[in-house]
Amino acid sequence: MLYNILLKSHSGLRWLLLFMFIAALVQLGRKAFGNADIDVKKISLYTLILAHIQLLLGLALYFISPKVIFDAAAMKDSILRFYLVEHISLMLIAIIILTIGYSKSKALFALPGGAKKAFYYYLISLVLILVSIPWPFRIPVAGWF
Ligand code: HEM
Repeated sequence: MLYNILLKSHSGLRWLLLFMFIAALVQLGRKAFGNADIDVKKISLYTLILAHIQLLLGLALYFISPKVIFDAAAMKDSILRFYLVEHISLMLIAIIILTIGYSKSKALFALPGGAKKAFYYYLISLVLILVSIPWPFRIPVAGWF
C-alpha cells in the first residue's frame, strides 16, 4: 500500500520535475544569453525543491522496493543492478550537481553571469537524470507514469 503510493508518486513526479527543469533552463538561458530582465531565482529554487522531494521518495523506495535486492547475485542481472546501483548513484550525482549549481549561483541570480553558471549546472544535472530514468524501452519492468 505505502509502497504503491511511493512508487506512483516517484514515477509521476518525474514528469513534473522534467517540466520544471526545462522551464528553468529556458528562463536561465534567456537571462544568461539574452540578457532578459526576468527573475530566475524562484524557478531555479522550485526545480531544486522538486528534485529533493524526488530524492526522498527514491530513498524510501530504495529500502522497500522488491526490485532492490541486497545480494551480490543481483549484480549479474542488468535490471536488478540498475536499481541496486546505477539509478541511485547517477541520480545522487545529478542532484548534488544541481544543489551545487543553485548554491553557487543564488547570490548572483540577478546578473547574467550568475544565470549562466546555474544554466550549465542545471543542464548537466538534467542530462544525467534523463539517462538514469528507468524508461520502459530500456528497463521493461518500469512504467511511463
Ligand atoms: C531526479 C531523480 C529521480 C528520478 C527522476 C527518478 C525516476 C524514477 C522512475 C521514473 C522510476 C520508475 C517508476 C516506475 O517503474 O513506474 C524510478 C524507480 C525507482 N527509483 Fe527513482 N528517480 C530518481 C531518484 C532516485 C533516487 C535518488 C533513488 C534512491 C535513493 C531512487 C530509487 C528508486 C527505486 C528503488 C526505484 C524502483 C521502484 C520500484 O519499481 O520498486 N530514485 N525512479
